[in-house]
Amino acid sequence: MSAPSPLPVVRAVTDLRAAVSAWRAAGLRTAFVPTMGALHEGHLSLVRLGREKADRVAASVFVNPTQFAPTEDLDRYPRQEERDAELLASAGCDLLFAPSAAEMYPADFATSVTVSGLTEDLEGRFRPQMFGGVATVVAKLLIGAGADVAVFGEKDYQQLLVIRRMAKDLNLPVEIVPGPTVREPDGLAMSSRNAYLGAAERAVAAQLNVILGEAAAKVRAGEAVEKAEAEATAAVLLAGFERVDYVAVRSAEDLGPYRPGQPARALAAAWLGQTRLIDNLPV
Ligand code: PAJ
Repeated sequence: MSAPSPLPVVRAVTDLRAAVSAWRAAGLRTAFVPTMGALHEGHLSLVRLGREKADRVAASVFVNPTQFAPTEDLDRYPRQEERDAELLASAGCDLLFAPSAAEMYPADFATSVTVSGLTEDLEGRFRPQMFGGVATVVAKLLIGAGADVAVFGEKDYQQLLVIRRMAKDLNLPVEIVPGPTVREPDGLAMSSRNAYLGAAERAVAAQLNVILGEAAAKVRAGEAVEKAEAEATAAVLLAGFERVDYVAVRSAEDLGPYRPGQPARALAAAWLGQTRLIDNLPV
């Protein structure tokens, strides 16, 4: 097998836009896949989905400082650009945008994008910093790239809804396409943060998905949402997680209260040692 050809890398927003514009001028559609790197099969599945939706795929790797709280893992978040570039090329990506923090946030940067309502509960309650940082950087990335399609994973379900809302509210001329969650063979949702887990924690981690699946099945079978949530919370703790931020069954459309007969989603966040894991499933 021959090595994948080296992936072109640009570091300036103007160069990203010029590449996408040149493709458009040649009659080609572009899909864009924003990431924070430390890529795994979940990210690569989004690149492949982008290839199905468009003629060219650009990905970004940028560990966005504004979505991390001071107490969070910004400094230890894994960074491995060379390996990421190889993986992206092997998945059919055509261009990597890997800006510096100064390129994205010059010293006089003064604008932020806020999505209200949707961002206030669940992840927003435990990571109040996050969605403002995500909405701002994703708005910058989508406007900067000018791609036809942008692909985001259902793994971060609330983030996907926030980005959809933001793109619609700001009339960004880009189609937001969701990609299904890619899992390890035992059901653990792939995540760059799984690398933090020790062997014992890794064995416990897969239970989060199993327990969410049970909660979803109970609600489908008619059990009260509050009861299913409480039982799932107890089961997550019993499985060996130290702390549960939330287990919630909500409307899949807007994460409002569960409405019987309407599409719903079971979502959870829980801690194993220093590592916070999230997952979600359709009900
Ligand atoms: P990151 O965590 O690197 O994820 C990049 C994209 O990959 C997101 O759309 C995420 O939902 C998706 N993804 C992660 N794990 C996945 C899995 N197991 N299966 C399918 N998709 C998966 O999410 C971010 O970065 C950042 O918040 C970002 C949107 C790039 C803004 O900084």
